[in-house]
Amino acid sequence: MAGDGPGDAVLSCRDLRIEIGGMPVVDGTSLSIAAGETLALVGESGCGKSMTALGLIRLLPDAARQGGGAVTLAGTRIDSLPERQMNRLRGDRMAMIFQEPVASLDPLMPVGRQIAEALDREPGLDRAAVRARVLDILRRVGLDRPEVRARQYPFQLSGGMCQRVMIAMAMIRRPLLLIADEPTTALDVTIQKQILELMADLRRETGSAVLLITHDMGVVSESADRVAVMYAGRIVETGSVRQVFAAPRHPYTAMLLRTIPRLDGPRKVALPAIPGAVPDIRDWPAGCRFHPRCPLAGARCRAEAPPLDAVAPGHQTACWHHDRIAEVLT
Ligand SMILES: Nc1ncnc2c1ncn2[C@@H]1O[C@H](COP(=O)(O)OP(=O)(O)OP(=O)(O)O)[C@@H](O)[C@H]1O
Ligand code: SF4
Ligand SMILES: [Mg+2]
Repeated sequence: MAGDGPGDAVLSCRDLRIEIGGMPVVDGTSLSIAAGETLALVGESGCGKSMTALGLIRLLPDAARQGGGAVTLAGTRIDSLPERQMNRLRGDRMAMIFQEPVASLDPLMPVGRQIAEALDREPGLDRAAVRARVLDILRRVGLDRPEVRARQYPFQLSGGMCQRVMIAMAMIRRPLLLIADEPTTALDVTIQKQILELMADLRRETGSAVLLITHDMGVVSESADRVAVMYAGRIVETGSVRQVFAAPRHPYTAMLLRTIPRLDGPRKVALPAIPGAVPDIRDWPAGCRFHPRCPLAGARCRAEAPPLDAVAPGHQTACWHHDRIAEVLT
């Protein structure tokens, strides 16, 4: 499973399958995340990362449906809960941060009120106490002049500020599970770093399990404990960040790692992209779905899908030729 992390899993899913028009966009994904741990889900655009996340919290678009698998949050099976209970859980125990923070906030409500709503279910808080908590959290996520910010609407704030507001909303609820779907992609590099640091603070303070979705291996190396690499709806490699970065065993992972800018390398060198593109779900190849782009592909790869097998404790890969990975790394 992608992430047999330490301790009991806060979130786990087994064989999750999400279908669009009968096609499995997420095809048998299993993962688990422990309290206080960050699992990064990484892969190129269209691999099924967002569909996995939306499937986990049951916010799939109309076109998609869960076609199988089990999802458990803190020991409770949630994929079969009635919608009313699920809705309550989403409010109380889970928080999600999206790529487009401005679009994710209510445009018609001052941000302070939006954060205060997250405290609605806490008994015994009067208005003054709620206001104090809101201002305190705005200060802690690094917004200057919190009294002024609290009264502003999302359109009056920058993308980075809105992302801080989203983090404040998540932080104040102390969620068991935080899902962040490309939380920094729309932001410039300096703000990106600050937002990732804030998320780390949130995790430390609340002990939340974090699922961090990104296409950026640089973000993975800085922010995650473990990583699950996804390609065309399937997890193809998983392990601790240290294991996977030091010794990737899947050609796709090895090629993704090559796209990280090296701090010691020459500046402004164009990063090598992986030749080709993720195929559309209607054109997924038979066998190993990476075979049209893989330098190691052979006859077996074109015919049979490789299973996710252990290559070291806590490190798994789905590749028939993982023992030949050195040929890709050179
Ligand atoms: N609403 C939708 N209707 C039909 N197909 C969809 C819909 N949303 C996503 N898809 C398809 O599902 C597949 C997986 O999409 P998903 O959004 O999960 O990818 P992703 O890995 O999150 O990519 P990105 O990095 O671009 O966010 C893609 O092939 C995509 O075209
Ligand atoms: S199974 Fe074959 S095609 Fe797939 S990644 Fe491994 S070598 Fe490449
Ligand atoms: Mg996505």
